Amino acid sequence: MNGFIFDLDGVIVDTAKYHYQAWKQLANNIGIEFSLEQNEQLKGVSRVESLKKILHWGQKTISDDEFMVLMTEKNNHYLSFIETMKEDEVLPDVSKILNYLSSRHQKIALGSASKNAVGILNKVNLTKFFDAIVDGNQVTHAKPDPEVFLNAAKQMNVKPEDCIVFEDAVAGIQAANAANMISIGIGDANVLHEADYVFKDFTEMSLTFIDKLINPKK
Ligand code: G6P
Ligand code: MG
Repeated sequence: MNGFIFDLDGVIVDTAKYHYQAWKQLANNIGIEFSLEQNEQLKGVSRVESLKKILHWGQKTISDDEFMVLMTEKNNHYLSFIETMKEDEVLPDVSKILNYLSSRHQKIALGSASKNAVGILNKVNLTKFFDAIVDGNQVTHAKPDPEVFLNAAKQMNVKPEDCIVFEDAVAGIQAANAANMISIGIGDANVLHEADYVFKDFTEMSLTFIDKLINPKK
């Protein structure tokens, strides 16, 4: 029995662009420049750690109260994008792969750092596919720590070495590797060079490839 673990942001849905817009506006409002390269480094990183990094890049110190205000502000802005999300925002061929895995009786889990994960899965109507959902509300150690994926494996009752992780973040690939799972990068092969395999997106992944993951000996 295999377990297929999906990251959410940037793998199932393109919410990475919403995180980027919300962080950019917040950073610019407090006089900090924010580039796409920096945003790349926030993928897979929790909300608290992301804000800490932005403040560090901008060499800015703020009070704990201000920190909380900014966190809320960022999330409210982000949620305003999420509110209108529909099924058509599921990335190409994600539903096809989920349907296929499910037809092959594979276990499926979500492994995300987001505290908004459950809400987003419901919005895009994919919750029904998941045997386990591990999100930012359940983990204490953020990616690249393997906790989120090990927790997902445990909830699916599948051994870590029988798990396959789909990830768009460098930290996520490192977490999957640290968990002794097969890591599959979704995105730029140069950025995700530590992954076992990289695909630009799911449209490039054949069902034959998925079959090989399900049954490597065949
Ligand atoms: C994912 C995204 C990050 C985001 C984190 C927390 O890992 O890749 O960019 O910061 O989730 O998301 P949240 O929805 O809890 O703010
Ligand atoms: Mg991601």
